[in-house]
Amino acid sequence: MGDSQGQLKREGFSSGLAIFFATLGSAVGLGNIWKFPYLTGQFGGGAFLLVYFSCIILVGLPVMLSEFYLGRSTRKNVVGAFDTLRSGTAWRYTGIMSVLAVYLIMFFYSCVAGWVYLYLFKALSGDFAGITAAVAKDQFASVVVGPWSPIIWQVIVMATVSAILIMGVKKGIERITKTLMPLLFILILLCDIRALTLPGAGAGIDFLFNVDFGKITPPVILTAMGLAFFKLSLGLGAMVTYSSYFTHDNNLFGTATKVALSDTLVSMLAGLAIFPAVFSFGMEPGAGPGLLFMTIPLVFSQMPFGNILLVAFFFLSSIAATTAMLSLVEVAVAYFVEEKGFGRKTAVIINAIVILVFGVLAALSADSSALLGQYTIFGKGFFDFFDYVSSNILLPVGGLLIAVFVGYLVNPAELRRELTNDGAIPAVLFEAFYFIIRYITPALLILVFLNSIGVVKL
Ligand code: PHE
Repeated sequence: MGDSQGQLKREGFSSGLAIFFATLGSAVGLGNIWKFPYLTGQFGGGAFLLVYFSCIILVGLPVMLSEFYLGRSTRKNVVGAFDTLRSGTAWRYTGIMSVLAVYLIMFFYSCVAGWVYLYLFKALSGDFAGITAAVAKDQFASVVVGPWSPIIWQVIVMATVSAILIMGVKKGIERITKTLMPLLFILILLCDIRALTLPGAGAGIDFLFNVDFGKITPPVILTAMGLAFFKLSLGLGAMVTYSSYFTHDNNLFGTATKVALSDTLVSMLAGLAIFPAVFSFGMEPGAGPGLLFMTIPLVFSQMPFGNILLVAFFFLSSIAATTAMLSLVEVAVAYFVEEKGFGRKTAVIINAIVILVFGVLAALSADSSALLGQYTIFGKGFFDFFDYVSSNILLPVGGLLIAVFVGYLVNPAELRRELTNDGAIPAVLFEAFYFIIRYITPALLILVFLNSIGVVKL
């Protein structure tokens, strides 16, 4: 348990701006640049987007505010937060489940981040000059199959993340996110300008924004819901942990809204950089997880100044992946430090090692022809299993438990006081939140679950 001395020494973010960039740094990640475009491509463009937006508003924002409440009111890690509010109950296992979900995500996330770092390195060494579609495919296949390069780059990723985390909350997380997030915006705008001025870019824009209601099916809704959680870093305590470092006077409604909006903007900007280029060069929007890695090098290498754009693109993707991982690993680090009494440095190193040991399973199974590509758990390879179980099951279940906890078990007066900063924030915002978190969010989550296990037909 965090003793009172630990409480006094606890670090925190220093200003509203730092809070915004750190939280946005957690939300913006491979989700925007890798997952969002390929899922939108696979699940029908505009129709998927519409369902996704609804999930962000009706489920994502309310759960984010609930996590902010848990973190800022208790100033504890995710397990400690549940313990403080309901001590001695099984609720602490919700926190433990969060830490497990963090691991599952990190196993495959650090692997994809490794590919991104490697692609940055390849772009810097001019490896993509004059490639054809077949070469782009081969290059990606050889990266994914490895076996050594995906593992080596995964180790480099974890070493980077660990080094930043060891520096601490202010000197590490705050300083890095405040410097790199603005740069990420500039770089993505640069890529957008180039992609949108390509001949035939309109087809990509149409694909992204034309809604075909016939494409909204139950699997589309489940996937969009899972993506909303993954995107906003919800359901596994990342927002609980970060908000435990927020200042007392931070406007939580303002931070949640600004982060959700800016994160969605980055996803749209990534889609606008990728789809026009995909259509303009006659490639397949539904190419799946390889979409980013096969199309972007090909497309950008064929443009004037393409190599500079490639460096820019993979640099911004590396920033996004790294700042998101800071928040993931911090959930486990805060837990080890505050609940188990580890020093910060030891906690970081132990977690990095655990992630690498199991992460190798993901790195060697991302493609069916990779070393471990033929092994399956419940019919899925390790890589897909980690991804599916975390995004589509653990995060939404975590979100449901958090919604029920905050909506029904927390003292409403106390909740209102914390979320409105003692009445400084208009009560109507709180009333709207309280209604949605009690009735709408859980109902939607339960419906989507029952549907996915076949109990209810949507
Ligand atoms: N939000 C991050 C992304 O989109 C991933 C993430 C999930 C980070 C959960 C923290 C917690 O890439």
